Amino acid sequence: MSEKTSCDSKRARMLAKLRAGALGLGLTHKLADGKSGRRIYLDSTASTLQLGIVRDVVQKYLPHYANTHTSAHFSAKLSTREYAWAHSMALDFVGADARDYCCFFVGSGATGGINRVARTLARKRPERDVVIATVMEHHSNDLPHRKNFAKVVHAPLVAAESGFGAADVARIESALAEHSGRVNYVAVTGVSNVTGIINPVHDIAEAAHRHGAAILVDAAQMAAHVPVQMSGHKNPARDLDILCMSGHKIYAPSSPGAVVARRELFAGVEPDEVGGGMVDDVHLDRYMVTDKFPDREEAGTPNIVGAIALATALYALKKIGMEYIAAEENELIKAAIAELAKIKDVVIYGAADAECMRAGAVSFNIRGMHHSLTAAVLNDYFNIAVRNACFCAHPYVREMISEDLGEQMDENLSNEELEALAEMQRGMVRASFGIYNERRDAAALADAVRHIAANKEEYASHYRQGEDGEYAHTTFRFDSRPLFSARDEAQRWLEEGG
Ligand SMILES: Cc1ncc(COP(=O)(O)O)c(C=O)c1O
Repeated sequence: MSEKTSCDSKRARMLAKLRAGALGLGLTHKLADGKSGRRIYLDSTASTLQLGIVRDVVQKYLPHYANTHTSAHFSAKLSTREYAWAHSMALDFVGADARDYCCFFVGSGATGGINRVARTLARKRPERDVVIATVMEHHSNDLPHRKNFAKVVHAPLVAAESGFGAADVARIESALAEHSGRVNYVAVTGVSNVTGIINPVHDIAEAAHRHGAAILVDAAQMAAHVPVQMSGHKNPARDLDILCMSGHKIYAPSSPGAVVARRELFAGVEPDEVGGGMVDDVHLDRYMVTDKFPDREEAGTPNIVGAIALATALYALKKIGMEYIAAEENELIKAAIAELAKIKDVVIYGAADAECMRAGAVSFNIRGMHHSLTAAVLNDYFNIAVRNACFCAHPYVREMISEDLGEQMDENLSNEELEALAEMQRGMVRASFGIYNERRDAAALADAVRHIAANKEEYASHYRQGEDGEYAHTTFRFDSRPLFSARDEAQRWLEEGG
Protein backbone atom coordinates (compact mmCIF):
# COMPACT_ATOMS: atom_id res chain seq x y z
CA MET A 1 0.00 0.00 0.00
CA SER A 2 1.41 3.43 -0.96
CA GLU A 3 1.91 6.04 1.75
CA LYS A 4 -0.91 8.16 0.30
CA THR A 5 -3.35 5.25 0.16
CA SER A 6 -2.60 4.26 3.73
CA CYS A 7 -2.93 7.87 4.86
CA ASP A 8 -6.25 8.21 3.02
CA SER A 9 -7.63 5.03 4.53
CA LYS A 10 -6.65 6.31 7.99
CA ARG A 11 -8.47 9.58 7.26
CA ALA A 12 -11.48 7.67 5.98
CA ARG A 13 -11.56 5.59 9.17
CA MET A 14 -11.37 8.67 11.40
CA LEU A 15 -14.04 10.47 9.39
CA ALA A 16 -16.32 7.43 9.58
CA LYS A 17 -15.83 7.39 13.34
CA LEU A 18 -16.61 11.09 13.65
CA ARG A 19 -19.72 10.64 11.48
CA ALA A 20 -20.97 7.68 13.44
CA GLY A 21 -20.48 9.59 16.68
CA ALA A 22 -22.53 12.63 15.62
CA LEU A 23 -25.36 13.15 18.09
CA GLY A 24 -28.92 12.83 16.87
CA LEU A 25 -28.30 10.88 13.67
CA GLY A 26 -30.58 8.12 14.86
CA LEU A 27 -33.54 10.35 15.77
CA THR A 28 -36.91 9.21 14.50
CA HIS A 29 -40.18 11.10 14.56
CA LYS A 30 -43.78 10.22 13.97
CA LEU A 31 -44.84 11.93 10.75
CA ALA A 32 -48.00 13.48 9.35
CA ASP A 33 -48.93 10.32 7.42
CA GLY A 34 -48.72 8.25 10.62
CA LYS A 35 -45.45 6.56 9.65
CA SER A 36 -42.16 7.00 11.48
CA GLY A 37 -39.00 8.01 9.75
CA ARG A 38 -35.30 8.64 10.34
CA ARG A 39 -34.59 12.35 10.69
CA ILE A 40 -32.36 13.64 7.89
CA TYR A 41 -30.59 16.72 9.12
CA LEU A 42 -29.96 19.20 6.31
CA ASP A 43 -29.69 22.38 8.37
CA SER A 44 -25.99 22.46 9.22
CA THR A 45 -25.58 25.97 7.85
CA ALA A 46 -27.80 27.19 10.71
CA SER A 47 -26.08 24.98 13.29
CA THR A 48 -24.21 21.73 12.84
CA LEU A 49 -25.03 18.64 14.83
CA GLN A 50 -22.73 17.99 17.75
CA LEU A 51 -19.96 15.43 17.65
CA GLY A 52 -19.55 12.61 20.12
CA ILE A 53 -15.83 13.39 20.41
CA VAL A 54 -16.67 16.91 21.60
CA ARG A 55 -19.21 15.71 24.14
CA ASP A 56 -16.82 13.06 25.50
CA VAL A 57 -13.82 15.37 25.77
CA VAL A 58 -15.88 18.09 27.45
CA GLN A 59 -17.38 15.60 29.87
CA LYS A 60 -13.87 14.56 30.91
CA TYR A 61 -12.88 18.16 31.38
CA LEU A 62 -15.89 19.26 33.44
CA PRO A 63 -14.76 17.77 36.79
CA HIS A 64 -11.64 19.95 36.45
CA TYR A 65 -13.58 23.05 35.47
CA ALA A 66 -12.34 26.21 37.17
CA ASN A 67 -11.80 29.85 36.26
CA THR A 68 -8.77 30.65 34.12
CA HIS A 69 -8.21 33.90 35.97
CA THR A 70 -7.08 31.96 39.05
CA SER A 71 -3.60 30.50 39.16
CA ALA A 72 -3.27 29.26 42.72
CA HIS A 73 -4.83 25.80 42.48
CA PHE A 74 -4.52 22.65 40.40
CA SER A 75 -7.83 22.87 38.51
CA ALA A 76 -7.26 26.53 37.63
CA LYS A 77 -3.81 25.67 36.28
CA LEU A 78 -5.34 22.87 34.22
CA SER A 79 -8.14 25.11 32.91
CA THR A 80 -5.68 27.87 32.04
CA ARG A 81 -3.52 25.45 30.06
CA GLU A 82 -6.47 23.98 28.19
CA TYR A 83 -7.90 27.41 27.42
CA ALA A 84 -4.51 28.45 26.01
CA TRP A 85 -4.53 25.27 23.89
CA ALA A 86 -7.91 26.31 22.49
CA HIS A 87 -6.37 29.57 21.23
CA SER A 88 -3.41 27.88 19.64
CA MET A 89 -5.67 25.24 18.07
CA ALA A 90 -7.78 27.95 16.45
CA LEU A 91 -4.67 29.68 15.08
CA ASP A 92 -3.34 26.39 13.78
CA PHE A 93 -6.66 25.41 12.19
CA VAL A 94 -6.81 28.54 10.06
CA GLY A 95 -3.08 28.48 9.27
CA ALA A 96 -2.23 31.71 11.08
CA ASP A 97 1.35 32.22 12.26
CA ALA A 98 1.17 32.69 16.06
CA ARG A 99 4.08 35.15 15.92
CA ASP A 100 2.00 37.64 13.94
CA TYR A 101 -1.58 36.67 14.66
CA CYS A 102 -3.65 36.43 17.82
CA CYS A 103 -6.84 34.58 18.54
CA PHE A 104 -9.50 35.66 20.99
CA PHE A 105 -12.89 34.25 21.86
CA VAL A 106 -16.02 36.35 22.02
CA GLY A 107 -19.67 35.69 22.84
CA SER A 108 -22.47 35.25 20.24
CA GLY A 109 -20.62 33.51 17.48
CA ALA A 110 -19.24 35.14 14.38
CA THR A 111 -21.60 38.08 14.94
CA GLY A 112 -19.87 38.95 18.21
CA GLY A 113 -16.48 38.77 16.49
CA ILE A 114 -17.45 40.89 13.49
CA ASN A 115 -19.00 43.57 15.70
CA ARG A 116 -15.81 43.66 17.75
CA VAL A 117 -13.69 44.02 14.62
CA ALA A 118 -15.89 46.81 13.26
CA ARG A 119 -15.90 48.80 16.51
CA THR A 120 -12.16 48.41 17.05
CA LEU A 121 -10.97 49.16 13.53
CA ALA A 122 -13.30 52.16 13.21
CA ARG A 123 -11.46 53.64 16.21
CA LYS A 124 -8.02 52.40 15.17
CA ARG A 125 -8.09 54.00 11.72
CA PRO A 126 -10.82 56.69 11.85
CA GLU A 127 -9.58 58.34 8.66
CA ARG A 128 -10.51 55.16 6.84
CA ASP A 129 -14.28 55.42 7.18
CA VAL A 130 -15.43 53.17 4.35
CA VAL A 131 -15.92 49.40 4.31
CA ILE A 132 -16.41 47.40 1.16
CA ALA A 133 -18.62 44.35 1.47
CA THR A 134 -20.50 42.36 -1.15
CA VAL A 135 -24.18 41.92 -1.96
CA MET A 136 -23.89 38.34 -0.74
CA GLU A 137 -23.15 39.03 2.93
CA HIS A 138 -25.06 37.68 5.90
CA HIS A 139 -26.49 40.62 7.91
CA SER A 140 -23.88 39.85 10.56
CA ASN A 141 -21.17 40.79 8.08
CA ASP A 142 -22.94 43.90 6.91
CA LEU A 143 -24.83 45.70 9.69
CA PRO A 144 -21.86 45.97 12.11
CA HIS A 145 -19.97 47.85 9.38
CA ARG A 146 -22.97 50.05 8.57
CA LYS A 147 -23.28 50.93 12.25
CA ASN A 148 -19.63 51.84 12.76
CA PHE A 149 -18.54 53.41 9.48
CA ALA A 150 -19.62 56.38 7.38
CA LYS A 151 -20.23 54.23 4.32
CA VAL A 152 -20.50 50.58 3.30
CA VAL A 153 -20.19 49.81 -0.39
CA HIS A 154 -21.90 46.57 -1.46
CA ALA A 155 -19.90 45.33 -4.41
CA PRO A 156 -21.91 43.36 -6.98
CA LEU A 157 -21.29 39.69 -7.76
CA VAL A 158 -20.08 38.08 -10.94
CA ALA A 159 -23.08 37.90 -13.25
CA ALA A 160 -22.59 34.44 -14.73
CA GLU A 161 -24.71 33.07 -17.55
CA SER A 162 -26.57 30.78 -15.14
CA GLY A 163 -27.08 33.30 -12.32
CA PHE A 164 -25.18 35.28 -9.71
CA GLY A 165 -21.75 33.88 -8.97
CA ALA A 166 -18.97 34.66 -6.50
CA ALA A 167 -17.78 38.09 -5.34
CA ASP A 168 -16.49 40.07 -8.30
CA VAL A 169 -12.86 40.94 -7.59
CA ALA A 170 -12.71 43.52 -10.38
CA ARG A 171 -15.76 45.37 -8.96
CA ILE A 172 -14.21 45.28 -5.48
CA GLU A 173 -11.00 46.68 -6.90
CA SER A 174 -12.94 49.52 -8.62
CA ALA A 175 -14.67 50.36 -5.33
CA LEU A 176 -11.28 50.39 -3.60
CA ALA A 177 -9.92 52.75 -6.24
CA GLU A 178 -13.00 54.97 -6.09
CA HIS A 179 -12.65 55.36 -2.31
CA SER A 180 -8.87 55.46 -2.38
CA GLY A 181 -7.30 56.08 1.03
CA ARG A 182 -10.65 55.77 2.80
CA VAL A 183 -11.25 52.00 2.84
CA ASN A 184 -10.59 50.49 6.24
CA TYR A 185 -11.18 46.88 5.17
CA VAL A 186 -12.97 44.65 2.73
CA ALA A 187 -15.44 42.39 4.51
CA VAL A 188 -16.35 39.27 2.60
CA THR A 189 -17.81 35.92 3.41
CA GLY A 190 -15.63 32.91 2.60
CA VAL A 191 -18.68 30.82 1.69
CA SER A 192 -22.24 32.07 1.16
CA ASN A 193 -24.75 30.84 3.71
CA VAL A 194 -27.42 30.91 0.99
CA THR A 195 -25.88 29.32 -2.09
CA GLY A 196 -22.71 27.80 -0.67
CA ILE A 197 -20.73 29.69 -3.32
CA ILE A 198 -17.05 29.94 -2.38
CA ASN A 199 -15.43 33.36 -2.73
CA PRO A 200 -11.87 34.00 -3.99
CA VAL A 201 -10.76 35.49 -0.67
CA HIS A 202 -7.05 35.53 -1.49
CA ASP A 203 -7.60 37.44 -4.73
CA ILE A 204 -9.73 39.90 -2.76
CA ALA A 205 -6.95 40.15 -0.16
CA GLU A 206 -4.47 41.12 -2.87
CA ALA A 207 -6.84 43.79 -4.16
CA ALA A 208 -7.48 45.17 -0.67
CA HIS A 209 -3.77 45.24 0.18
CA ARG A 210 -2.92 47.08 -3.05
CA HIS A 211 -5.07 49.92 -1.67
CA GLY A 212 -3.81 49.86 1.92
CA ALA A 213 -7.02 48.22 3.15
CA ALA A 214 -7.25 45.09 5.28
CA ILE A 215 -9.40 42.05 4.60
CA LEU A 216 -11.90 40.56 7.04
CA VAL A 217 -13.16 37.11 6.12
CA ASP A 218 -16.43 35.97 7.61
CA ALA A 219 -15.63 32.28 7.95
CA ALA A 220 -18.87 31.32 9.71
CA GLN A 221 -19.63 28.97 6.82
CA MET A 222 -16.14 28.51 5.47
CA ALA A 223 -14.34 27.07 8.46
CA ALA A 224 -16.19 23.74 8.62
CA HIS A 225 -16.16 23.11 4.87
CA VAL A 226 -13.11 24.61 3.16
CA PRO A 227 -9.40 24.58 4.13
CA VAL A 228 -8.21 27.99 5.32
CA GLN A 229 -4.63 29.29 5.20
CA MET A 230 -4.43 32.81 6.59
CA SER A 231 -0.68 33.39 6.48
CA GLY A 232 2.51 32.06 4.88
CA HIS A 233 1.52 32.55 1.25
CA LYS A 234 4.39 32.87 -1.22
CA ASN A 235 2.95 36.27 -2.06
CA PRO A 236 2.28 37.81 1.39
CA ALA A 237 -0.33 40.11 -0.14
CA ARG A 238 -2.53 37.02 -0.37
CA ASP A 239 -2.49 36.52 3.41
CA LEU A 240 -5.73 37.24 5.26
CA ASP A 241 -5.77 39.85 8.03
CA ILE A 242 -8.82 38.97 10.11
CA LEU A 243 -11.13 35.98 10.23
CA CYS A 244 -14.21 35.32 12.36
CA MET A 245 -15.76 31.93 12.95
CA SER A 246 -18.45 30.40 15.05
CA GLY A 247 -18.37 27.25 17.21
CA HIS A 248 -21.96 26.17 16.60
CA LYS A 249 -21.26 25.98 12.89
CA ILE A 250 -18.18 23.80 13.43
CA TYR A 251 -19.66 20.93 15.40
CA ALA A 252 -19.28 22.49 18.87
CA PRO A 253 -22.24 23.30 21.12
CA SER A 254 -23.54 26.84 21.68
CA SER A 255 -21.77 29.78 20.14
CA PRO A 256 -18.22 30.57 21.13
CA GLY A 257 -17.10 33.04 18.48
CA ALA A 258 -13.43 33.15 17.55
CA VAL A 259 -11.52 36.04 16.00
CA VAL A 260 -8.12 35.41 14.45
CA ALA A 261 -6.35 38.62 13.50
CA ARG A 262 -3.01 40.24 12.89
CA ARG A 263 -1.90 41.48 16.29
CA GLU A 264 -0.90 44.87 14.92
CA LEU A 265 -4.54 45.61 14.01
CA PHE A 266 -5.68 45.25 17.60
CA ALA A 267 -2.57 46.69 19.26
CA GLY A 268 -2.22 50.35 20.23
CA VAL A 269 -5.96 50.95 20.46
CA GLU A 270 -8.13 50.82 23.55
CA PRO A 271 -9.81 47.39 23.57
CA ASP A 272 -13.50 47.57 22.85
CA GLU A 273 -14.47 45.78 26.04
CA VAL A 274 -12.92 46.55 29.40
CA GLY A 275 -13.09 44.86 32.79
CA GLY A 276 -11.32 42.13 34.68
CA GLY A 277 -8.47 40.17 33.16
CA MET A 278 -7.31 42.70 30.55
CA VAL A 279 -5.35 45.16 32.68
CA ASP A 280 -1.87 45.24 34.18
CA ASP A 281 -2.94 47.62 36.94
CA VAL A 282 -5.87 49.75 38.03
CA HIS A 283 -5.85 52.94 40.15
CA LEU A 284 -8.86 55.00 41.06
CA ASP A 285 -8.00 57.57 38.41
CA ARG A 286 -6.50 55.41 35.66
CA TYR A 287 -5.91 51.87 34.41
CA MET A 288 -3.20 50.26 32.32
CA VAL A 289 -4.33 47.83 29.65
CA THR A 290 -2.06 44.84 29.18
CA ASP A 291 -0.16 44.48 25.91
CA LYS A 292 -0.64 40.72 26.06
CA PHE A 293 -2.88 38.88 23.62
CA PRO A 294 -5.41 37.41 23.95
CA ASP A 295 -5.92 38.87 27.44
CA ARG A 296 -6.42 42.46 26.28
CA GLU A 297 -9.32 41.38 24.07
CA GLU A 298 -10.94 39.04 26.57
CA ALA A 299 -12.35 41.12 29.40
CA GLY A 300 -14.35 39.08 31.90
CA THR A 301 -14.54 35.34 32.44
CA PRO A 302 -14.50 33.68 29.04
CA ASN A 303 -16.60 30.82 27.72
CA ILE A 304 -13.94 28.30 28.72
CA VAL A 305 -15.98 25.18 28.05
CA GLY A 306 -17.17 26.53 24.70
CA ALA A 307 -13.62 27.32 23.62
CA ILE A 308 -12.36 23.86 24.62
CA ALA A 309 -15.30 22.23 22.83
CA LEU A 310 -14.59 24.23 19.68
CA ALA A 311 -10.87 23.47 19.82
CA THR A 312 -11.66 19.75 20.18
CA ALA A 313 -13.79 19.85 17.03
CA LEU A 314 -11.07 21.79 15.20
CA TYR A 315 -8.46 19.26 16.29
CA ALA A 316 -10.56 16.38 14.96
CA LEU A 317 -11.20 18.11 11.61
CA LYS A 318 -7.54 19.04 11.26
CA LYS A 319 -6.42 15.48 12.03
CA ILE A 320 -8.59 14.18 9.21
CA GLY A 321 -7.54 17.07 6.97
CA MET A 322 -9.80 19.80 5.65
CA GLU A 323 -8.73 19.07 2.04
CA TYR A 324 -9.98 15.54 2.47
CA ILE A 325 -13.23 16.65 4.12
CA ALA A 326 -13.81 19.34 1.48
CA ALA A 327 -13.31 16.83 -1.35
CA GLU A 328 -15.82 14.42 0.22
CA GLU A 329 -18.36 17.19 0.77
CA ASN A 330 -17.86 18.52 -2.72
CA GLU A 331 -19.00 15.19 -4.16
CA LEU A 332 -22.06 15.31 -1.93
CA ILE A 333 -23.11 18.87 -2.80
CA LYS A 334 -22.54 18.22 -6.50
CA ALA A 335 -24.72 15.12 -6.30
CA ALA A 336 -27.46 17.02 -4.44
CA ILE A 337 -27.46 19.85 -6.99
CA ALA A 338 -27.38 17.46 -9.94
CA GLU A 339 -30.36 15.50 -8.58
CA LEU A 340 -32.41 18.61 -7.72
CA ALA A 341 -31.64 20.16 -11.10
CA LYS A 342 -33.31 17.24 -12.86
CA ILE A 343 -36.66 17.87 -11.16
CA LYS A 344 -39.31 19.69 -13.16
CA ASP A 345 -40.30 23.02 -11.57
CA VAL A 346 -37.26 23.22 -9.29
CA VAL A 347 -35.16 26.38 -9.49
CA ILE A 348 -31.69 26.35 -7.92
CA TYR A 349 -30.28 29.74 -7.02
CA GLY A 350 -26.83 31.02 -7.90
CA ALA A 351 -24.53 30.26 -10.78
CA ALA A 352 -24.19 26.65 -11.92
CA ASP A 353 -21.37 24.65 -10.41
CA ALA A 354 -19.16 24.82 -13.45
CA GLU A 355 -19.01 28.59 -13.06
CA CYS A 356 -18.19 28.65 -9.38
CA MET A 357 -17.44 26.22 -6.59
CA ARG A 358 -19.87 25.57 -3.76
CA ALA A 359 -19.62 24.17 -0.27
CA GLY A 360 -22.14 23.19 2.34
CA ALA A 361 -25.44 24.55 1.08
CA VAL A 362 -27.86 24.77 -1.82
CA SER A 363 -31.00 26.92 -1.96
CA PHE A 364 -33.95 26.22 -4.20
CA ASN A 365 -37.69 26.64 -4.70
CA ILE A 366 -40.37 24.51 -6.24
CA ARG A 367 -42.14 26.82 -8.66
CA GLY A 368 -45.76 27.40 -7.67
CA MET A 369 -45.11 26.49 -4.06
CA HIS A 370 -44.38 28.82 -1.16
CA HIS A 371 -40.95 28.18 0.39
CA SER A 372 -42.51 27.77 3.83
CA LEU A 373 -44.91 25.13 2.51
CA THR A 374 -42.10 23.18 0.85
CA ALA A 375 -40.04 23.26 4.05
CA ALA A 376 -43.04 22.24 6.17
CA VAL A 377 -43.89 19.29 3.90
CA LEU A 378 -40.25 18.16 3.87
CA ASN A 379 -40.33 18.14 7.66
CA ASP A 380 -43.83 16.78 8.32
CA TYR A 381 -43.95 14.03 5.68
CA PHE A 382 -40.29 13.19 5.04
CA ASN A 383 -38.53 14.11 8.28
CA ILE A 384 -36.03 16.20 6.33
CA ALA A 385 -34.90 19.20 8.38
CA VAL A 386 -34.20 22.24 6.18
CA ARG A 387 -34.49 25.99 6.63
CA ASN A 388 -36.54 28.45 4.60
CA ALA A 389 -37.01 32.21 4.09
CA CYS A 390 -34.16 34.69 3.56
CA PHE A 391 -31.42 33.33 5.85
CA CYS A 392 -30.39 36.76 7.19
CA ALA A 393 -29.15 37.71 3.73
CA HIS A 394 -32.17 39.68 2.47
CA PRO A 395 -30.50 41.75 -0.28
CA TYR A 396 -28.83 38.67 -1.81
CA VAL A 397 -31.95 36.52 -1.66
CA ARG A 398 -34.05 39.36 -3.08
CA GLU A 399 -31.64 39.86 -5.99
CA MET A 400 -31.69 36.20 -6.93
CA ILE A 401 -35.46 35.95 -6.63
CA SER A 402 -35.97 39.07 -8.74
CA GLU A 403 -33.69 37.62 -11.36
CA ASP A 404 -35.68 34.40 -11.40
CA LEU A 405 -39.02 36.22 -11.45
CA GLY A 406 -37.74 38.19 -14.43
CA GLU A 407 -37.19 34.89 -16.23
CA GLN A 408 -40.71 33.74 -15.39
CA MET A 409 -42.32 37.01 -16.49
CA ASP A 410 -45.05 36.38 -18.91
CA GLU A 411 -46.82 39.40 -20.29
CA ASN A 412 -50.15 37.53 -20.04
CA LEU A 413 -49.95 37.45 -16.24
CA SER A 414 -52.28 39.85 -14.46
CA ASN A 415 -50.98 42.16 -11.74
CA GLU A 416 -52.61 39.93 -9.10
CA GLU A 417 -50.89 36.85 -10.54
CA LEU A 418 -47.56 38.65 -10.58
CA GLU A 419 -48.10 39.77 -6.99
CA ALA A 420 -48.95 36.20 -5.95
CA LEU A 421 -45.85 34.88 -7.71
CA ALA A 422 -43.62 37.42 -5.99
CA GLU A 423 -45.17 36.68 -2.59
CA MET A 424 -44.73 32.94 -3.07
CA GLN A 425 -41.06 33.32 -3.77
CA ARG A 426 -40.12 35.91 -1.21
CA GLY A 427 -37.77 33.33 0.23
CA MET A 428 -36.11 30.03 -0.53
CA VAL A 429 -35.60 26.56 0.86
CA ARG A 430 -32.06 25.74 1.91
CA ALA A 431 -30.59 22.27 2.27
CA SER A 432 -27.21 22.24 3.95
CA PHE A 433 -24.75 19.49 4.70
CA GLY A 434 -22.20 18.48 7.31
CA ILE A 435 -19.64 15.73 7.65
CA TYR A 436 -22.31 13.28 8.85
CA ASN A 437 -24.40 13.54 5.69
CA GLU A 438 -24.14 10.84 3.08
CA ARG A 439 -25.19 10.32 -0.53
CA ARG A 440 -28.38 8.67 0.65
CA ASP A 441 -29.38 11.93 2.38
CA ALA A 442 -28.97 13.89 -0.85
CA ALA A 443 -30.92 11.17 -2.68
CA ALA A 444 -33.69 11.25 -0.05
CA LEU A 445 -33.96 15.02 -0.44
CA ALA A 446 -34.23 14.75 -4.21
CA ASP A 447 -36.84 11.96 -3.97
CA ALA A 448 -38.90 14.00 -1.53
CA VAL A 449 -38.70 17.20 -3.60
CA ARG A 450 -39.62 15.24 -6.73
CA HIS A 451 -42.65 13.81 -4.96
CA ILE A 452 -43.73 17.19 -3.57
CA ALA A 453 -43.29 18.91 -6.94
CA ALA A 454 -45.48 16.27 -8.58
CA ASN A 455 -48.20 16.55 -5.90
CA LYS A 456 -48.28 20.24 -5.02
CA GLU A 457 -52.05 20.60 -4.75
CA GLU A 458 -52.48 17.45 -2.68
CA TYR A 459 -49.88 18.60 -0.13
CA ALA A 460 -51.13 22.19 -0.14
CA SER A 461 -54.64 20.99 0.72
CA HIS A 462 -53.36 19.84 4.14
CA TYR A 463 -51.88 23.22 5.08
CA ARG A 464 -53.03 26.71 6.00
CA GLN A 465 -50.90 29.84 5.88
CA GLY A 466 -50.82 31.70 9.19
CA GLU A 467 -50.68 35.46 9.67
CA ASP A 468 -46.91 35.20 10.04
CA GLY A 469 -46.73 33.82 6.50
CA GLU A 470 -45.67 30.35 7.68
CA TYR A 471 -47.58 27.23 6.69
CA ALA A 472 -48.89 24.81 9.30
CA HIS A 473 -50.54 21.42 8.87
CA THR A 474 -54.26 21.53 9.52
CA THR A 475 -54.42 18.33 11.61
CA PHE A 476 -50.89 17.10 12.39
CA ARG A 477 -49.27 18.56 15.51
CA PHE A 478 -45.75 18.08 16.85
CA ASP A 479 -45.29 18.04 20.60
CA SER A 480 -41.64 18.39 21.58
CA ARG A 481 -42.12 17.93 25.31
CA PRO A 482 -42.21 14.11 25.39
CA LEU A 483 -38.88 14.13 23.49
CA PHE A 484 -37.10 16.49 25.81
CA SER A 485 -37.86 19.05 28.47
CA ALA A 486 -35.03 20.47 30.58
CA ARG A 487 -37.46 21.11 33.43
CA ASP A 488 -38.79 17.53 33.38
CA GLU A 489 -35.27 16.11 33.16
CA ALA A 490 -34.20 18.25 36.11
CA GLN A 491 -37.22 17.13 38.09
CA ARG A 492 -36.53 13.46 37.28
CA TRP A 493 -32.87 13.87 38.29
CA LEU A 494 -33.83 15.40 41.63
CA GLU A 495 -36.34 12.70 42.42
CA GLU A 496 -34.44 9.68 41.10
CA GLY A 497 -33.58 7.30 43.90
CA GLY A 498 -34.95 9.79 46.39
C1 LIG B 1 -22.09 33.65 6.55
C2 LIG B 1 -22.51 33.89 7.96
N1 LIG B 1 -21.95 34.88 8.65
C3 LIG B 1 -22.27 35.14 9.93
C4 LIG B 1 -23.21 34.39 10.57
C5 LIG B 1 -23.53 34.68 12.00
O1 LIG B 1 -23.05 33.63 12.77
P1 LIG B 1 -23.47 33.51 14.31
O2 LIG B 1 -24.93 33.26 14.31
O3 LIG B 1 -22.68 32.37 14.81
O4 LIG B 1 -23.12 34.77 14.95
C6 LIG B 1 -23.85 33.35 9.89
C7 LIG B 1 -24.90 32.56 10.55
O5 LIG B 1 -25.70 31.90 9.92
C8 LIG B 1 -23.48 33.08 8.56
O6 LIG B 1 -24.03 32.08 7.89
